Formats: sequence, structure tokens, C-alpha cells
Amino acid sequence: MGSLPPVILAWAPRLVTVGIPIHGAARGGGILAPRNPHEPEGAMTFISHVECTICGHRHDAKRLLTVCAKCGQMLAVRYDLERVKAHVTKDTLTSRPPGMYRFRELTPLDDGEAPVTLGEGGTPVLALPRLADHLGMRRLWAKDEGQNPTGTFKARGLGMAITRGRTLGARGFVIPSAGNAGGAAAAYAARCGLPCIVIVPRGTPPAAIAEALIAGAHVFTIDGSIATAGRVAAKAAPALGWFDLSTLKEPYRLEGKKTIGLELAADLGWRMPDVLLYPTGGGTGLVGIPKAYDELRAMGWLSGELPRFFAVQAEGCAPVVKAFREGAETTTAWENPTTAAAGLRVPSPFAGRQMLRVLRDTRGGAVAVSERQIEEAHRLIARVEGIWTAPESAALVAALAVLKDRGDLARDAEVLLVFTGSGLKYAPPALPAPTHLEGSEEEVLLRVQRVVRP
Ligand SMILES: Cc1ncc(COP(=O)(O)O)c(C=O)c1O
Ligand SMILES: [Zn+2]
Repeated sequence: MGSLPPVILAWAPRLVTVGIPIHGAARGGGILAPRNPHEPEGAMTFISHVECTICGHRHDAKRLLTVCAKCGQMLAVRYDLERVKAHVTKDTLTSRPPGMYRFRELTPLDDGEAPVTLGEGGTPVLALPRLADHLGMRRLWAKDEGQNPTGTFKARGLGMAITRGRTLGARGFVIPSAGNAGGAAAAYAARCGLPCIVIVPRGTPPAAIAEALIAGAHVFTIDGSIATAGRVAAKAAPALGWFDLSTLKEPYRLEGKKTIGLELAADLGWRMPDVLLYPTGGGTGLVGIPKAYDELRAMGWLSGELPRFFAVQAEGCAPVVKAFREGAETTTAWENPTTAAAGLRVPSPFAGRQMLRVLRDTRGGAVAVSERQIEEAHRLIARVEGIWTAPESAALVAALAVLKDRGDLARDAEVLLVFTGSGLKYAPPALPAPTHLEGSEEEVLLRVQRVVRP
């Protein structure tokens, strides 16, 4: 471990209000020091404008934005990429402390803005050689987003959205969620001392609910799905004057999620994989990762074709798979959505159109897997690689087998899975009971031997 980094005095007053990022030993450092790794050299913004992803209408980036004022569709932040390129090099970025704000110039932070952070990002890309062997593949990787604060990739998007919301004047936040996004929103709202409402479907995994409650959020459950929760949020947010964080109905969360793609580019040595699988609910990463790649390609930092993107969903809620198969331009509402992979239970994603565009533009596709396949894959990935991931990510492992059977994956294709969360946030799949040891020392030893070497 190196010497302690210097305290950047110019940042001290801000640090007090947003909390000092403490980097734990788990991800690169073990340094517990009052520092702000999130910006250094005259941090400034490189945003050029915010525009609608459908009609192109431009919006004022200095205002707290939601959806397109003209057509109601999703907005996206655009950067002056030539200026970014003139200002930083790849090496500058990767020599900064790990975490998503090392890519600050490609985030919507304003001049000098300090993020509300718990140390998100900087997750490892893990080789999966034993799983690859098992599936008859050669080059298989997972970006393990379960190692984020809050245990899922939602930390990136919500950290960014709450940072920007707070700076642009939000007095509180409202989020409809399948669970993890709500937990993350509650954590970041607590981190900056703002109130938060979390609305989740009844039956949401208890750990996500607990996460929101312990962070002091007002938590509500509702019958139905995230779609029902979203309708309440759309009414409650304006009534309270709080900011609605519904998936992709504001442009900031996408920019946080996009950092998965920025990191992936650097992680793989400024290359892209051939194929990328994403467990798809609202689709922030499915839209965000290619956005990152496109920005880096425009800067000349990446070259070549984008990976083929595949959306993976559960058979009980597969609006993107259905629309893809039907050649539809956007998704239609899925009736009676059911799946134990809670994050995939999104019957009418707002960004269906944008997701389908990514899948088609990259010659990718969409796959639905059954609950049984998810459960088996959940155990498999833990057994062969030691990764207890979220069921949503397990769906990707299940989808690999389907894609292979369909002849959609070349044997030596380089395939990347986005493991979106930690399994610790969910009830485990069905597992054998542990053997209880009792009796004399001899009996105990005998039992251990019988179990290990039957
Ligand atoms: C663990 C996990 N994976 C995947 C998803 C789906 O992500 P997205 O909404 O970006 O498609 C979610 C969403 O709740 C999630 O919590
Ligand atoms: Zn528009």
C-alpha cells in the first residue's frame, strides 16, 4: 500500500456536505483518508447539450431535466468529445483512483461538482474459464457489478442521478423500482441528506426493501409491478415537488450506467468484446453501454464494430424478446409479468424503442429463459466459478446455452456477461440442507468422512 494521498484542501468544504468517499480494501486501495478522488485538475464539464433520442430536440443542460419537452421521449446527454480528447488521455483516466468518476469528463458533472458517492464502479472483469469449459466456449468474461456499493450496478445510475438532482435543485426523490434501484436511491439520498420515496411491488426481495428502509426512505409496496408503482410515482413526485427517478425518464441515470461501458473498454485494453449479454428490465445498461462505446469510438479511443448486444429476459416477462421477434419498433405491455428475477419484471419499459434499436443495429438479439433454467444456472455459476450472483445475471448464464444451441455463438467468440448484482441480496435457489454434526467425536468424524467421500 502506498503513502496516503494528499488532502486536496480546495475540496474540503464540499466534502463535508456530501460525505467523504471511503475506499475499502475490497476494491483497489484500502485507503481510509480524507481525500476526494473524484476530481483533481480543475474539474470541468464537457457537456455540449442534452437532446431527445427520438426527435433530436435540444434542452438546456443547466436545468433539471426529465423527458423531451416536445415528444415525451427519452433524453440523452451529449458531450464535446473533441474537447474531452484534447483535455485528457486514456492514461490520465486510468491512472486515477478506481471508480466511475475516473471518467469524469464523460459524465454530466458540472464544473467543480462533487459527486454523492459511496465508491461505486471499479468492478472487476472476471475470466470464467471453468464455466466456458462447461459450455464448450473459449473466451468468457463477466463484469461483476455485484461488487458495487448496495450490491448491484444500480449504484452507478442512482449515484449519478442523485448527484445531479441534488445540484440542480431537487428537494427529494421518488422512485418506482423492482427493488435494487429503490435500495440504491435510498442509500444515495441518505448520503446527501435528502428524502426519498421508494415504491416497489409486493413480493420484492426483502433485502432490497430493508436496504431502503434502513436508509430512512419512505417505502411503499403496491400490488402489480414496477409499472403500477411508476403510475403512483408520476403522481406523487409533482404533488410533492420531488424529482421522479423512473427508469430513463431523466437523463442522468443513463450516464451513471454508461460508466460500465467506459470501464469495460479500459478493462479489456481499449477493445470491445464480440458479444455482450445484458439482463434486461428497463434497459439502462443496454442503452448506456453502447452509448459509452459510441462516445469512445467518436474520440478514436476504440475502433471497430460494436459487440453484438443480446437482451436476456425471463419467459414470464419478455416484452423486448417478443418485440424483437416480431420486428416491432417498440415494446408493448406484457400481461401478468412473473419471474423470480425481480429486476427483469418490467412489463412496459419506457425505452423499448431505444433498446430494440441497439439489438438490431449491432446484429444482436433477444433471448427468453425459463425459471428452471435461471435456477439451474444460478447454482451452476456459483459451483463452477464461486460467484453467487443475482438471479438476473444467472439468466445470462442460462442464455449462453440457448444461444450456443441456436448456433448464435461462435466457439471462439469473446463473450462478456454483465453480472448486475450480488446473490446475497436474494433468497438463494433451492439447495441441499447442510449436514448437522452431533454425537461423539468419532461419530462426528465418521459423518464428515461419509459426506465428503461417500
Ligand atoms: C440485479 C438486476 N439486474 C438487472 C436489472 C435490469 O436492469 P435494467 O433495468 O437496466 O434493464 C435489474 C433492475 O432492477 C436488477 O436489479
Ligand atoms: Zn423529442
